[in-house]
Amino acid sequence: METSVRFPTLPIQPGIFYFGTPVVLLTTTNPDGNSNITPLSSAWALANRVVLGLANEGQGLANLQRERECVLNLPGPDLWPQVERLAPTTGRTVVPEWKRQAGYCYVGDKFALAGLTPCAAECVRPPRIAECPLQLEARVLSIMEREVDAWVGTAGGYHIIEVEVLRTHAHADVVVPGTQHVNPRRYRPLIYLFRHYTGTEIPLGRTFKAEV
Ligand SMILES: Cc1cc2nc3c(=O)[nH]c(=O)nc-3n(C[C@H](O)[C@H](O)[C@H](O)COP(=O)(O)O)c2cc1C
Repeated sequence: METSVRFPTLPIQPGIFYFGTPVVLLTTTNPDGNSNITPLSSAWALANRVVLGLANEGQGLANLQRERECVLNLPGPDLWPQVERLAPTTGRTVVPEWKRQAGYCYVGDKFALAGLTPCAAECVRPPRIAECPLQLEARVLSIMEREVDAWVGTAGGYHIIEVEVLRTHAHADVVVPGTQHVNPRRYRPLIYLFRHYTGTEIPLGRTFKAEV
């Protein structure tokens, strides 16, 4: 049978390509010494490196450029209301015009707004978020700037940030007892899927390199 009959497709031009990646709550230190939380979903990991994509004009980006350290906190699906409370906010005291028009406002204490608990990190200044089952302390290795033409409603560009994980903290109940491994049957990420929050409830199987 013709492939186009078995798998009919439509040519589409989606405005976004958020095809389902975990939400990361990036904690950084503001110029006044307070902590900021930046929700992001443009993140991927290879070995002990994580690469982040952050649009221009965010406070988390400015903090990373200045302080060059952070914590990548991975919330579980239960924390989506807290993440959504942070969504229309920025830690930037002067809200960029395009963000103001989109309904964003400045929030100085995002921990208080979201009802999350700061907890001291061991290798970096920004705090960990106690409620997140995985917390990765990291330092910045490189930052690259990228311009984007005609990207409606944004600052016209973004930065690619490569970080090195220095220390990992995991809730005890997501660790395989007596090992260094995260238990994929216990740990669940919060997934950002075409601007909707979702979980990954049903384990389907393991790749041949899985440790547990
Ligand atoms: C679930 C979620 C995922 C997001 N993903 C990203 C992302 O990957 N990159 C980005 O630049 N902004 C992302 N944003 C938007 C930022 O969180 C937003 O610009 C915020 O104002 C940044 O805060 P800050 O200025 O205090 O750093 C995301 C927002 C939400 C709620």
